[in-house]
Order: sequence, then structure tokens, then C-alpha cells
Amino acid sequence: MKIVVAALKGGVGKTTTCIYLAALGAAAGKDVVVVDADAQASAADWIETSEDPALEGVELVEAPTERLLAKAMNRAGDDQVMVIDSPPGNERIIGHALQHADVVVIPTRVGGVEWPRVDVVRRMVPRRTPYGLVICSARTFTRDYTETVQYWIDSGVEVWGTIPERVSIASGPDRPLSADGLETYRPLWRKVTRKAV
Ligand SMILES: Nc1ncnc2c1ncn2[C@@H]1O[C@H](COP(=O)(O)OP(=O)(O)OP(=O)(O)O)[C@@H](O)[C@H]1O
Ligand SMILES: [Mg+2]
Repeated sequence: MKIVVAALKGGVGKTTTCIYLAALGAAAGKDVVVVDADAQASAADWIETSEDPALEGVELVEAPTERLLAKAMNRAGDDQVMVIDSPPGNERIIGHALQHADVVVIPTRVGGVEWPRVDVVRRMVPRRTPYGLVICSARTFTRDYTETVQYWIDSGVEVWGTIPERVSIASGPDRPLSADGLETYRPLWRKVTRKAV
């Protein structure tokens, strides 16, 4: 199962989503490999420096070019869960990843300025490939949040998850993964595994 986490916009929650999905996959007993297609290597850094046992068995492949990404994605084993983190703004690499995805997660944030950017990505997803949004770092009690969810429902786009804004999630590789973060990402993990089959 190749899960591509993709957004054109920077700082929306791609890497965080990728790492939490990888940890949940590992906790479910899967053979997980994270493919970092971002030259910034944030996911790679996270996997390498984190001391969280949840990420211990997670394999890492750095693939910051189209060629390396193609190679990495071709090598996915049948029983493997591959989670691909993508670079912001690189349509070529994102396009390539999307072409070879079994399922696509598009992280986004609350607010109307985000909508057109998401539309560009979802139009790049091949027609038969399931995809859904995850609304990251959301203040779920605000009207902006409610309006954002409503906008996507009205647009016929599936929202597979909402991750509330949490200091514990923002701490990145310096701290163990947050229990709260794992709980709020779990419904997304379930959705992804159901949609991919
Ligand atoms: N649920 C959350 N609550 C609080 N902070 C969050 C949450 N999710 C992500 N963040 C923070 O938002 C910032 C951007 O997240 P992240 O690095 O995952 O995004 P990205 O899309 O991978 O960014 P880039 O485009 O730079 O690769 C980080 O500082 C991260 O810790
Ligand atoms: Mg990132």
C-alpha cells in the first residue's frame, strides 16, 4: 500500500501526517517504510533523530528526485506500507508520486485561502485513486473550521480526518510522538487502509 501525503502548499502538515501514519502503521504490525521525497529531509530527520519506540522499526528511504522516487516506489513490497512525504511546490515530484499512489492524503488547513491550492492537487490525482483531506492544526471550535468542512462537503470532497492544533503535536522529533496526536490520527489511518483496498 503506497500512501502519498501531498500538498503544494508549504507548512500545512505533510511531514507530521506522514510520521503519525507511519507510527500507526507500525503499531498495527505492518512493515512500514517512509519515503522522503522532500530535499529538506524533515521526515528523514524525524525518523533518524526520534527516540520514540513507535518509530523504531520504520524504515527510511530518502528520494528527493523524480528518479530516486520512481525507484523507491517501484521497490514497494506487497505487504509493505509505504508512506511518501512530498516537497511543497514541486509539481513534478508530487505529480509523479500521485501517479503511483494507492491512496492519497491531502493535508490542508482551515480557511478559504487554502481551497484553490487543494483543488490543484486533487485535480492531479488519477481518476481511480481514492483521496481525502486531513485538516491539520485545526481550531475545531471556530466558525472558520465549520465553514471549511462545509465547503469541502459541498464540493463533494471527502474529509477523512481533522487533527486539532496541539502543542504536543508541534514538538516534532524532539519529543516522543504525542498520545493525543496518535489518537487523533488513528481515524485517518483506518480510513486510509479501508480506502486503499
Ligand atoms: N496538529 C498540529 N498542531 C500544532 N502544530 C502542528 C500540527 N500539525 C502540524 N503542526 C506544525 O505545523 C508546522 C508545519 O507542519 P509540517 O512540517 O508537518 O508541514 P509540512 O507541510 O510538511 O511543511 P513543509 O512544506 O515545510 O514540508 C510544524 O511546525 C508542525 O509542528
Ligand atoms: Mg514537510
